[in-house]
Amino acid sequence: MQIKQILAEAAVGSEIIVKGWVRTKRVQPNVIFININDGSVIHNIQVVAEPGLINEETLKLITTGSCIAVSGILNESKGSGQRVELQVKTIQVYGTADPEKYPLQPKKHSLEFLREIAHLRPRTNTFSAILRIRHALAFAIHNYFNDNGFFYLHTPIITGSDAEGAGEMFRVSTLDPKSPPLNEDGTINYKEDFFGKETNLTVSGQLEGELGAMALSKIYTFGPTFRAENSNTARHLAEFWMIEPEVAFYELEDNMALAEDFTKYVIRYAIENCADDLAFLENRLKEEEKTKKVEERSELDLIQKLNFVVDNEYVKLTYTEAIKILVSSKRHKEGKFQYPVEWGIDLQSEHERYLVEKHFKKPVILTNYPKDIKAFYMKLDEDGTTVRAMDVLFPGIGEIIGGSQREDNYEKLLERSKAVGIHEDTIWWYLETRQFGTAPHSGFGIGFERLVMFVTGMTNIRDVIPFPRTPKSADF
Ligand code: 4AD
Ligand code: MG
Repeated sequence: MQIKQILAEAAVGSEIIVKGWVRTKRVQPNVIFININDGSVIHNIQVVAEPGLINEETLKLITTGSCIAVSGILNESKGSGQRVELQVKTIQVYGTADPEKYPLQPKKHSLEFLREIAHLRPRTNTFSAILRIRHALAFAIHNYFNDNGFFYLHTPIITGSDAEGAGEMFRVSTLDPKSPPLNEDGTINYKEDFFGKETNLTVSGQLEGELGAMALSKIYTFGPTFRAENSNTARHLAEFWMIEPEVAFYELEDNMALAEDFTKYVIRYAIENCADDLAFLENRLKEEEKTKKVEERSELDLIQKLNFVVDNEYVKLTYTEAIKILVSSKRHKEGKFQYPVEWGIDLQSEHERYLVEKHFKKPVILTNYPKDIKAFYMKLDEDGTTVRAMDVLFPGIGEIIGGSQREDNYEKLLERSKAVGIHEDTIWWYLETRQFGTAPHSGFGIGFERLVMFVTGMTNIRDVIPFPRTPKSADF
C-alpha cells in the first residue's frame, strides 16, 4: 500500500507492509522512530520499533536516504501528528545510503545546491510536491480539453520549418560534423543529410496544429518544445513543454475567453486536488519571504494568490493602450525602466510586470501588437500596422501565454511570409490550407513550466521541471 492510502484510509489494527526511503531516524533508550516517505504524498509515515526488535547491524544501515520495507501493525498514533503509525514486526533493508556520502541530509539545502543533484532532489519535500503538482496540472489540462471537445494532436518534434521565424533552433543531422558534404559554393549539402533537407527540433507545434484544426475543428498539442535562445534567465528553458490549442471559427475574442477559462480551470483543479502540497509550498514561501525587505514581500500568500486569479476577471487592453499607461507611469518619468518605452518596442519583462503587478494587480491580456514584433502568421488588423495577437501576462511570471487569430487570407499570408524571409517551399503545405477551405481560426501556446511556476510559487523555471536543459547545462 502506498503511504498516501495508508494515512488516509487503512484500518487501525491491520497488518501492512510499507516500502520507502528513510527521512529520519531517532533512537531513544526505549523506542526507535523512523520516518519513511514513498513520494505518494508529502507526509511521512512514522514507524515505531522496540529497541530489541531490530538488530544492531540492521539498525546501523537504516540512515537518511536508505530504502527499507517494514511490515507491522497499524496503530492509532498519539504523537506523530498523523492518524496512524506503524508498529514494526520486521524490517528489510533494500539499499543503504552512506551518511558520509549521501548529500541529502535532514536540514535545509539551497535550491542552487539541489539543482546540482537533480538525480536526488525528487526525494525532498519541495521537489516531490512540485512534481506531484506538475502531474496534476498535466492531468487537468487533458481533462479540460477532453471535456470541451478538443482532440489531442501529436505534432512532430523534428521539423523542416521555423514556425516562430525566430531562428532559435537546434539542428537535427546525421552528417559528419568534421567533413560534411559540400555544395559547389562551399555551403553544406543537406540533400545528403538523413531527411534530404535541413531539419531542426520544433519550436512550436502550431503550424501542424492548424492543419489539425482545419479538419477536426478543435485540437490541442502538448509536447516538448526546443529553443536555442541563449537567454540564461529564470523564465527560459532550452527544452520546455508547451500546450497549444487551435480552434476553427474562433476569432481573437473567443481565443481570449478560452485562455481565461482554461487557465482558471487548471489552477482551480490544483487548488482542489493538491491542497497538502500547496500548503507545504506556501509555508516554504512564507519562510523565504521573511528574509526579504518588508516592501518586497508579496501581499498575498500562495493559495490566496491562486484564488485571486481564479475569482477575478482578467484585464483586457490593447498594446497601444498599454504603452500609453507605461509612458505616463511615474516609473517611466523617473527613468526607472531599464529598457526604453515607446510604441513599436517589444515589451520587456519589467514592463509586463509593471502592468500586472503594479498597475492592474491582476492577470492582463494584451492584444493588437505591432506586426513587426510578432510572427508572420498573425492576422493583420484593418489598419495594416497591428495584428490580432494576444499575450496573457501573469503576476510574478510575465508572459505565460502567446497566441493570436491566424491570417486566413492566402495572399496576405504569402506576402507576410515572404516579408520575413520564410521560403515558400518550407511551408507550402501550411499555405495550402488557405487555398483549400480556409476559415477564421485562432489559438495560443502556454508554457507548461511557466504555469507550474505560477501555481507552485517557485521563482526559477529550473526548479519546476525534473531535469532542466539550459545553456551549458544538460546533465542527468
Ligand atoms: O509566445 P510563444 O513563442 O508562442 C508560440 O510559440 C506560438 N506558436 C503559440 C501559439 O500561438 N500556438 O510561446 C508560447 C509560450 C510563451 O508564452 C511562454 O509561456 C512559453 O511558451 N515559452 C517558454 N517557456 C520556457 N522557456 C522558453 N524558452 C520559452 N519560450 C516560450
Ligand atoms: Mg511570445
